[in-house]
Amino acid sequence: MHYMSINITFAAMKVLLVCLGNICRSPMAEGILRDKARERGLRLTIDSAGTNRYHTGEAPDHRAVAKMKEHGHDITDLRARTLEPEDFGRFDRILVMDTSNLQNVLRVPHKSSHGSKVSLFLNEFQPQGNQSVPDPYFGGDDGFEDVYQMLDKACEAYLNTLDGKS
Ligand code: 4NP
Repeated sequence: MHYMSINITFAAMKVLLVCLGNICRSPMAEGILRDKARERGLRLTIDSAGTNRYHTGEAPDHRAVAKMKEHGHDITDLRARTLEPEDFGRFDRILVMDTSNLQNVLRVPHKSSHGSKVSLFLNEFQPQGNQSVPDPYFGGDDGFEDVYQMLDKACEAYLNTLDGKS
């Protein structure tokens, strides 16, 4: 009798969160998701990027940092970067904050088979709802609280889809 040992290694799911500037919505989502994943003991690779390069290298917007701190998350270590074609190969999922940036993402050159990795982040919470997380950059502080609440729900829903698979 011949015994074969099978060694299965589960690779960590890799998820990229994307908005326009990578200084408000997507770093907030990254901060919430990494803290919740840690609390659940889920192994997850998380990063974020922006579809434009205006803020590349910058820390998150001070209003995003303050809102996150108010809710117990520290995102001061994060720095903005621009989405690049290689991200389509690097990540399993590319979760985008709004419909306009969904179009921006899909304009970045990628293999057609990687297009299905891209979807709206709020569809994790409300599948096929096609809702956007509104851009809080030009608005007041209330906008950041609204954004936080939406991101928090979407992060929970996303992690619920992963629980037991990681
Ligand atoms: P984010 O917000 O896409 O959530 O990071 C924005 C940040 C910067 C600008 C717009 C939105 N901007 O026009 O500079």
